[in-house]
Amino acid sequence: MIRLLSYIYPITKKIKSDYNGIVEITWYNGKKLLNSKNANFSYGSLEKILQVGFRNLDLSNCKNILLLGLGGGNVIKTLQQDYNYLHKITAIEIDSVIIKIAKDEFGINNSDKVKIICMDALDFVVKNTEVFDLIIVDLFIDDTIPTPFFTNNFWQHLTHTKQLLFNAALYVNNNESLQKIKQLLTKNAFVITQLDNVNKTNTLLIAKKTKL
Ligand SMILES: C[S@@+](CC[C@H](N)C(=O)[O-])C[C@H]1O[C@@H](n2cnc3c(N)ncnc32)[C@H](O)[C@@H]1O
Repeated sequence: MIRLLSYIYPITKKIKSDYNGIVEITWYNGKKLLNSKNANFSYGSLEKILQVGFRNLDLSNCKNILLLGLGGGNVIKTLQQDYNYLHKITAIEIDSVIIKIAKDEFGINNSDKVKIICMDALDFVVKNTEVFDLIIVDLFIDDTIPTPFFTNNFWQHLTHTKQLLFNAALYVNNNESLQKIKQLLTKNAFVITQLDNVNKTNTLLIAKKTKL
């Protein structure tokens, strides 16, 4: 019923999160979305943007993916349903309310394949010893990427992987921080593709080790 009504007008539920202010779960045109005040977090434009990223990756040899920024779990659903990816995913999310929303509203649960950890992504990568085939960096507080995720300290911890997908910003495509990340990755044998204005907004960085 809600789905049908949402074709006539959007139906929204507001929830106070731990880190992202008030977030909204909105039924719109038959689809359920997760939005922060100024950005779509999951299942709306974000889905279209990350789909473009996935088309530029090689998922065929991936067996172990790290997702930094669970949100509503859109990436997990896309990987499993659209790409038939049925191997391991570790998802890191700082906001416990968002993890609960992913579970209750979008059916994203821990399982033998999916491990969800409530933790700061920087702390996780500093302590982590596991090697991942692909790391997806999708870390926003509302519409802003927190500054630690533009530092060499953070990115140095990701250089063991074979492929990286970075949802790098909204409306920013040539800032100094992004250039520094690209330099660091190039030094670590990655070939980088930068896609600007994806879905008319975001910049994506795709980095692949020269030998996969
Ligand atoms: C755009 S949403 C991610 C959407 C998600 N990738 C998906 O597939 O639906 C960004 C997420 O990053 C999380 N985040 C922001 N800062 C973080 C941090 N320091 N550590 C872990 N998660 C963080 C936010 O709480 C938010 O849920």
